[in-house]
Amino acid sequence: MHNFHALLLLLIVPMMIHGMQLPPSPSPLKVSSSSPATDTLALFGIPKDLWKCGPGPGYVSDQIIQRMNEACPLAAADFNHCCAIHDDCYSNQRGRSQCDQDFCGCMSYHVKHNLNAANCSQQTLAACGLVERYGEQFYNAASQSPVDPAKRLPEEFPSITEEYEKLYKACEKQYATIASCALNFDICYRSPGNRHEKCVVDFQRCLDATHLGRDLDQQCDAAIEMVQWKMVEKVETGGNVTVLVLAEVQNNTITFVKKV
Ligand SMILES: *[C@@H]1O[C@H](CO)[C@@H](O)[C@H](O)[C@H]1NC(C)=O
Ligand SMILES: *[C@@H]1O[C@H](CO)[C@@H](O)[C@H](O)[C@H]1NC(C)=O
Ligand SMILES: *[C@@H]1O[C@H](CO)[C@@H](O)[C@H](O)[C@H]1NC(C)=O
Repeated sequence: MHNFHALLLLLIVPMMIHGMQLPPSPSPLKVSSSSPATDTLALFGIPKDLWKCGPGPGYVSDQIIQRMNEACPLAAADFNHCCAIHDDCYSNQRGRSQCDQDFCGCMSYHVKHNLNAANCSQQTLAACGLVERYGEQFYNAASQSPVDPAKRLPEEFPSITEEYEKLYKACEKQYATIASCALNFDICYRSPGNRHEKCVVDFQRCLDATHLGRDLDQQCDAAIEMVQWKMVEKVETGGNVTVLVLAEVQNNTITFVKKV
């Protein structure tokens, strides 16, 4: 089940600005995900079941995908991660205003720090204001929906597969976020021009940041730490990654390794 996302307003806002109107009642069943224009796997490398922005298959989600593809396609994975975190937050009823604030913070972080996201700056600001105003009913509905079971294991990091699988048992309240961390690692790793070391460090950070989205949970903390150890154990043999990770440790930017 997808939850409501502010990013659906990426669509609505520019349409209002341009004086256009939504069709009278867009059918949620008007699926056109096989169309090349809305195939998130082809456009962004994101499989359909892991696409989290929008209210589920249908007209509105298709429009979000197309607009993102026009304005900030290379930031799709980052924004989709914001949507995944927001999904988990709503599913677990962690407080609507907190969820929405975090969502806005997540988007604006990427707009500020990621040149690929900057071109969607106006849309994210508008979306943010609107979700804060209209999110209530979606938040309430999310308490009745089952948690999205879509999983993802990091395909480009086979040596940690077994440990990663365990996260889905230990951290069952954060399926969407954890699946998205794995997906975004693969996307990073497969993009020409990205240093693989950077992808590993981003992956560590992504897992590290999950603690912000849960109450104290020693079981999940321990499972995440095991995955992170496994990653370091693996990269140590590679040479350069270790150097980078160590630099991050010195900078105290990865809390996990800080403990070493
Ligand atoms: C920025 O977004 C607009 C559409 O909103 C698009 O026409 C333009 O090509 C985008 N620019 C870049 C650099 O992606
Ligand atoms: C490690 O770093 C050295 C020097 O920066 C570079 O020449 C080499 O290609 C790197 N190795 C890998 C596997 O990235
Ligand atoms: C560590 O911090 C310094 C100074 O802020 C910065 O120049 C450097 O890039 C950082 N290193 C890493 C690996 O983040």
